[in-house]
Amino acid sequence: MIILRTVPELRTFIHDWQHQGQTIGLVPTMGYLHDGHLSLIDHTKPNCDRLIVSIFVNPTQFAPGEDLDRYPRNFERDEKLVADHGAHAIFYPDSKEMYSDGFRTFVIVEGLGNVLCGRTRPTHFRGVTTIVAKLFHLTRCDVAAFGQKDYQQTLLIRRMAEDLNFDVQILVCPTVREADGLAMSSRNSYLSPEERGRAPILYNTLIKGQQLCLAGENDAGKIKQEMKKMAKTIPGVSVDYLEVVDANDLRTLQKITGPAVLAGAVWVGSTRLIDNVIIGA
Ligand code: PAF
Repeated sequence: MIILRTVPELRTFIHDWQHQGQTIGLVPTMGYLHDGHLSLIDHTKPNCDRLIVSIFVNPTQFAPGEDLDRYPRNFERDEKLVADHGAHAIFYPDSKEMYSDGFRTFVIVEGLGNVLCGRTRPTHFRGVTTIVAKLFHLTRCDVAAFGQKDYQQTLLIRRMAEDLNFDVQILVCPTVREADGLAMSSRNSYLSPEERGRAPILYNTLIKGQQLCLAGENDAGKIKQEMKKMAKTIPGVSVDYLEVVDANDLRTLQKITGPAVLAGAVWVGSTRLIDNVIIGA
């Protein structure tokens, strides 16, 4: 497995692989890999000839005061995991490689990035779509994989790929969970043992909402109310949002009449966790 740290190095390999008629798969990550990332690699590998995993803690998707500096990093461990899962290359640039002095061009997907997580993190998604557009462009990937845990992110990336004519197949892979239901996330490492014990409340709350739907409840207001009531039972947990939205355009729903998403973000201590379940897709 090769480690590519610069854009020219990456371009040389991409050029050679494409010249040989090989297809390219991309798994974009911010590192500190867990089983969720590894399942993205496993899902993508059979769909391409050459698989690149990018590891880049992207500064433009963090607002001032967020956790950019303390975001967990362990490249040696990541390198071993990626190699064990059979990827061909890691793209591991530094910030200057991706954002040259004077950088001022962003990709913004109108309307989808200012709801749900975008309310609390108003500049987050323009950072995500900008870096993903750059990675699609640089790797010229035929296929790229993202996790369903970041449902809003997957919708924005699909929209961006469609709107900007990226010829890439987007795979959205199921959320990988701990035994108690907590969605795997690099940020789970911030949780103290007590907080870790409380963290499954988010998934349990969403499952409660899902059960209400399965029992025939389609009033989104009632489902939200029940979910919020449940989330509030755990001390040290505060709700950022618990929403019932249209699965295609993230519109807030009054009644569930088609594919919907129950999406939530909660603070467990100072750690913000997100998760979702899809209804009727
Ligand atoms: O989901 C993530 O880890 C990041 O948002 C991504 C897609 C790698 C872009 O930095």
